[in-house]
Amino acid sequence: MAVALGLLVCTSCSASGGTATTHHRVLIGSAVSEAALANDATYRATLENNFSMVTPENEMKWDTIQPNPTTYNFGPADAIVTFARSHGMEVRGHTLVWHDQNPPWLTNGHFTRDQLIAILRDHIFTVVGHYRGQVAQWDVVNEALDDSGRLRHDIWYQVIGPSYIDMAFRFAHAADPKAKLFYNDTGAEGLGPKSDAVYRLVAGLKHRGVPIDGVGLQSHFVGLVGPSQAGAEANMVRLGTLGLQVAVTEMDVALVLPADSPALRTEARIYGYMLSACQQEPNCHTFVVWEFTDKYSWIPSAMPDFGAADLFDASMHPKPAFFTLLQDLGPHSDSLRG
Ligand code: G3I
Repeated sequence: MAVALGLLVCTSCSASGGTATTHHRVLIGSAVSEAALANDATYRATLENNFSMVTPENEMKWDTIQPNPTTYNFGPADAIVTFARSHGMEVRGHTLVWHDQNPPWLTNGHFTRDQLIAILRDHIFTVVGHYRGQVAQWDVVNEALDDSGRLRHDIWYQVIGPSYIDMAFRFAHAADPKAKLFYNDTGAEGLGPKSDAVYRLVAGLKHRGVPIDGVGLQSHFVGLVGPSQAGAEANMVRLGTLGLQVAVTEMDVALVLPADSPALRTEARIYGYMLSACQQEPNCHTFVVWEFTDKYSWIPSAMPDFGAADLFDASMHPKPAFFTLLQDLGPHSDSLRG
């Protein structure tokens, strides 16, 4: 590829509107797949040339990393962490507690409350301990709230109760006191009932002295519908008033296939204003896309008729969204990676 995205870090750059502005450093990351990393040289090269952070897309989830009660399977995630460290990239860990991608032994185990707390504690101490000093940020709890903003009645809530969230953060902090700990959720990027519920949840954590550092705004947008930039910024600001960081953690924009040029330009605009929002707000230093290439996107298999959601097409050519981010990051971006 002729253009080195170098995308990735901005210390002093111009706002897309043309107004000279000084922004803070923003890490630009991508979710990655260990299989693609191992088998696809173009994927590896594009990743290392353009990104300064990685998130294992599935490899740190419970069903992969603790497939049996007494077995931890660190190999796939270790491969990603080793790749990142050898290329000067940061790592976001994803995710320690979730309702999805849990192994059958856990979901079908019929554990007592005390047993499940002990399992949660062992998992978090073992996984966070394994990566102590190597994972900069953890999504400690993922999607605890449903779409209406109520606590999801998953195994954690049903067996332990809502205090599982506090426990998870306290365990993670004890296992790696220097890692930044995030609550991560979807559909809570702008202002609205879901983000109000996230705000109340994390305000409660802060009030109780739970060691939370930030909120992950997943930013999966479908059919060119997303929050306004003003709404995203206002949400970032109010979370900042709680003393919390924010991070864009899983951005993609699912388009109806086949995607035409106007749709790709609108997709680019949405990517651009989410990055601009992050650049504008002093508590946002991380912007991660959920796979950088349409070749390995999760979307077509999960949402038939949708796709073309990422910065690079399936042939690994940069799309308009890539160039918009490059422009937003400004003239110094190509020398600031990492
Ligand atoms: O584990 C099996 C494996 O044994 C089998 O060989 C393979 C063959 O298809 O399927 C594997 O499971 C798939 C898994 O990804 C690993 O590839 C599941 O079927 C598939 O449903 C799963 O999808 C993941 C999805 O989370 C699960 O909800 C996507 O890759 C992943 O991108 C997606 O990521 C989530 C974030 O973690 C949280 N936020 C939403 C985001 C998108 O749903």
